[in-house]
Amino acid sequence: MVNRLLAAIIACGCLVASPGPSFAAQPAGTHQDLGLSPDLLELLRAEMREIAAGVQGMALSVATANWQAIRATSEQIRASYIMEKKLTPDQAEELARALPAQFKLLDAQFHQRAEKLAAAAQARDPELVVFHYSRLVESCVACHASFAAARFTGFAAPDPQVHHH
Ligand code: HEC
Repeated sequence: MVNRLLAAIIACGCLVASPGPSFAAQPAGTHQDLGLSPDLLELLRAEMREIAAGVQGMALSVATANWQAIRATSEQIRASYIMEKKLTPDQAEELARALPAQFKLLDAQFHQRAEKLAAAAQARDPELVVFHYSRLVESCVACHASFAAARFTGFAAPDPQVHHH
């Protein structure tokens, strides 16, 4: 019984870790909100895929009180600024120019939340860890709704016909 349960959890973890169709890498130059050049967009998407893998694995680490793993992953996320990647001077200039202030703000907030999550894991405080984990996921939603709605079409306004108020 326990073995079967474990097998189910592991199988489920594998499913979650493999990128779903909505995460499938898109061909360079496809429609996007930020108007970045294809190489910068690919850098950003690569960073996103890394972050996504970390955040997915973290749900299990939170549930099993694996503080060390939570701390390591959130510190990795905190340190993963695309702005700090090895960019050519032209790319750095493009990024500074192309990214709206609101994007930079959401990005900074996102990294701050990762830092708070790391601190909560270090303090071994399960309630605080769950709180900051959910705040971190909230940051993904906020930024995607504003700057990746062309990519994640689920953020489009709901069909007014379904609402009856
Ligand atoms: C500050 C903004 C911002 C934050 C915060 C953010 N993202 Fe993204 N994300 C983007 C943008 C912009 C794209 C690219 C959209 C496009 O392809 O046009 C993207 C794309 C992605 C992709 C698709 C990558 C690919 O292969 O094309 C995944 C997966 C993703 N984000 C996951 C996450 C997760 C999970 C979080 C939170 C833990 C997160 N993102 C937080 C802005 C953000």
